[in-house]
Amino acid sequence: MKLTSLMRIWLTRSFKPFEFNSHNDHTLDFEEIGQLGLYVHIPFCRSICSFCPYCKVQYDPLLAEKYEQSLLKEIELIGRTLTKPKEVTSLYLGGGTPALMLDSIKKIIDALKRYFVIQGGIGAELHPDDVDDEVLMKLKEAGVTMISIGIQSFHSGCLSALGRKEPDYERIFKAVGKTGFETVDMDLIFAIPGQTADILKSDIDTAFKNGATQISTYPFIDFTFADNRYKPLSEQVKKKMLAEITAHCQERNYRRTSVWTFAKPGTGKYSSVTRENFLGFGVSAATLLKKQFKINTFSIEGYMDRVGKGRIPTSLTLNFSLRQRMVYYLFWSAYAGIINPEDFQNFFGASLNQKYGLEILLCRVLGFIKKIKGEYHLTERGAYWFHYIEQAYTTAYIDKMWNVSGKVAFPEKIILE
Ligand SMILES: C[S@@+](CC[C@H](N)C(=O)[O-])C[C@H]1O[C@@H](n2cnc3c(N)ncnc32)[C@H](O)[C@@H]1O
Ligand code: SF4
Repeated sequence: MKLTSLMRIWLTRSFKPFEFNSHNDHTLDFEEIGQLGLYVHIPFCRSICSFCPYCKVQYDPLLAEKYEQSLLKEIELIGRTLTKPKEVTSLYLGGGTPALMLDSIKKIIDALKRYFVIQGGIGAELHPDDVDDEVLMKLKEAGVTMISIGIQSFHSGCLSALGRKEPDYERIFKAVGKTGFETVDMDLIFAIPGQTADILKSDIDTAFKNGATQISTYPFIDFTFADNRYKPLSEQVKKKMLAEITAHCQERNYRRTSVWTFAKPGTGKYSSVTRENFLGFGVSAATLLKKQFKINTFSIEGYMDRVGKGRIPTSLTLNFSLRQRMVYYLFWSAYAGIINPEDFQNFFGASLNQKYGLEILLCRVLGFIKKIKGEYHLTERGAYWFHYIEQAYTTAYIDKMWNVSGKVAFPEKIILE
């Protein structure tokens, strides 16, 4: 049996796998839910990168126009179920490459604002080729306050191993400096063939020197359905590189904001996954609620067809058992670096110590977490093991979900064991 299955059985106290089913009730129950974030998926890219697992297609202006109409309709379908405007923590626009629908972004944000009061920031993912004065100004005018740029590497050899060309860095740095966003994240991938710890450290310095307030350092993952010419470096090398990244950032006083992100002190955090609950709009978008996890269809045609018929485009729904939901909650809290027993109690109406006292004790004894002012903080050792486990779940769960969903518009069910 796989390590991921054993951990699931142990922590959920059940042999029941995560079962996503097309027959489960797809209605969205979010009116009374606290701490809700929003996510919108824009699936268009200028060209397709071989390493990328996300739901995306080649940009086509006519298709993008129709997609905008469907998105606005989906927002209305879901928003109008509310009896009054709902406060949400944040909005993230991800992709794909949201800037390819630049003129739709304001319309999408305005449509959401009819139903939701966005309390925190609005974030948008950007491909380096999109970053110029005009695009950034338009995003800012639309209300975007945080951006994340998919740099991947500043090293031409590493970029070419990923099948990417070098962008015009001068243009990017100047535009970022001129426009000024509260949070500027730059994504860097590590364990690319040919990459060394020195290249990585120099990339981190380049990012922070040129406008980044945060860096996200993702381990290179070889998804089964990706088309990677060069494979990621070994797990041993990943372990060493993560330790080097951590030490390098600590020496420079950048604080760890999650297992794979580091930020300048006093700056905000760019993270679309560490919310207690979120509502996702668009093709492939996921929705996490108190008792359910849902994903929309990955097929653009399927999505537009469903929405056109006035139906929400959910393809699969998982009805969580209480323990499954607790594990999901703890997984993402640990990824963000802090488990707060009071928040857990408020969310579940149950004590963390009663439910997972033994596991917390074990993690403390093994040096994975430390208790600071009543909260459990992930240690450096804990962060390494979390990184390892997260990659294992990405391979076991996300790879399977996205692979099947990319092939079948509305699968009957997907079972994650
Ligand atoms: C939706 S993607 C990219 C945003 C933007 N479209 C771009 O290409 O710059 C978000 C991030 O996921 C990371 N990513 C994508 N595929 C990955 C892989 N196979 N392994 C590790 N990280 C990956 C990259 O750092 C990427 O910037
Ligand atoms: S990495 Fe970005 S540009 Fe490349 S295919 Fe993925 S979403 Fe598109």
